Amino acid sequence: MVLQLNGMKKIGIINSGGDCAGLNAVISSLVKCGEPLGYEFYGFERGWEGLLDPMVYRRLDRDAVRGISHLGGTILHTVNRGRFAGKVGSGDKSKIDPDILAMASRNAKKLDLDGFIVIGGDGTLSAALQLAEHGLNIIGVPKTIDNDLGATDKTFGFSTAVQIAVDALDKIHTTATSHERTFLVECMGRHAGWISLYAGLAGSANAILLPEFPFELTDFLDHLRARRASGRMSNVVVVAEGMKLGGKTFTHRAGAHSSETVFGGVSEQLMRTIEHVAPGEFEMRNVVLGHTQRGGSPNSQDRILAKRYGVEALLAYDRGEFGSMVAIRAGRMITTPIAEAVKSLKLVTADNYEFQAAGKLGIYLGSEGAAVPAST
Ligand code: F6P
Repeated sequence: MVLQLNGMKKIGIINSGGDCAGLNAVISSLVKCGEPLGYEFYGFERGWEGLLDPMVYRRLDRDAVRGISHLGGTILHTVNRGRFAGKVGSGDKSKIDPDILAMASRNAKKLDLDGFIVIGGDGTLSAALQLAEHGLNIIGVPKTIDNDLGATDKTFGFSTAVQIAVDALDKIHTTATSHERTFLVECMGRHAGWISLYAGLAGSANAILLPEFPFELTDFLDHLRARRASGRMSNVVVVAEGMKLGGKTFTHRAGAHSSETVFGGVSEQLMRTIEHVAPGEFEMRNVVLGHTQRGGSPNSQDRILAKRYGVEALLAYDRGEFGSMVAIRAGRMITTPIAEAVKSLKLVTADNYEFQAAGKLGIYLGSEGAAVPAST
């Protein structure tokens, strides 16, 4: 089907990569802000896949987006692999097949689309950049629950994910205390430990194991033993899925027949390793919060952030700032070139305020964290 020009500029909306709370709020505000300015919207299903043959898309007008802002997930569905994968891991850009890029721009022309607003993390935005280099008008909106995009202070979905983890930690604390057990609670975060750090600090964890701060087992166990020696019999340990034990991360294949490498399950590995080196010393359980952190309704903070991103992305589109991504810095919305935005991941560093506070509260943070003098 070829869309008929009717004087309105047509914008395609694409969300791609892992879902997160707040996506629907972005989609809804793009449409609500854009229609009065003379734009018409088309939502592509399953990320970039919807733009490739056979195209799957639908008209998104005010009625179609009514009542969706508070809903989790995305009405457009999404995939994080596919023919348009722009990045395969931290820093690993993959060049999209030129035929696939040509198909995407051909289809955009076929539909008389003026351009796209693309909501995604570094992989999706790296792909968007390659399309922008093909001459397409693109504005990016950052999205990741990991909050690890260097170009922006905050991404929507992060606050909700942290709250989900904190709610879980509150519950884990009571059962850990009753049974005098050591719980390893695994949070998402492959390369950056922001969710673990924030959840661990808010949820009063006794140790937080981050991807950025490798630790040695003896050092970590000494911390747990010191707690026990002072009468604190239970431990709640937050473990980021990308944590490094002795410099090593733990990944596994998604399934017996899958070539996909995924994180997750590291808390169980750690539990087994501790049991191996200190048999019977700690009664342990592990809890993997996994995709619960990406599910459910966005909290109020994420709804507001997502709506602001939607509005600002539309205004940036209207100003013709193509090839840029909206970002928030010190509370202010700005635009920054996508090329810059996908360059660096934002990692937890030892001078981070929350990291410092956690260290001063005596929370174990790996060997570098131990350098922060505890105040108690
Ligand atoms: O990047 C966001 C994220 O939620 C990571 O924290 C997590 O490792 C990954 O996505 C999980 O992705 P998938 O949905 O493919 O399991």
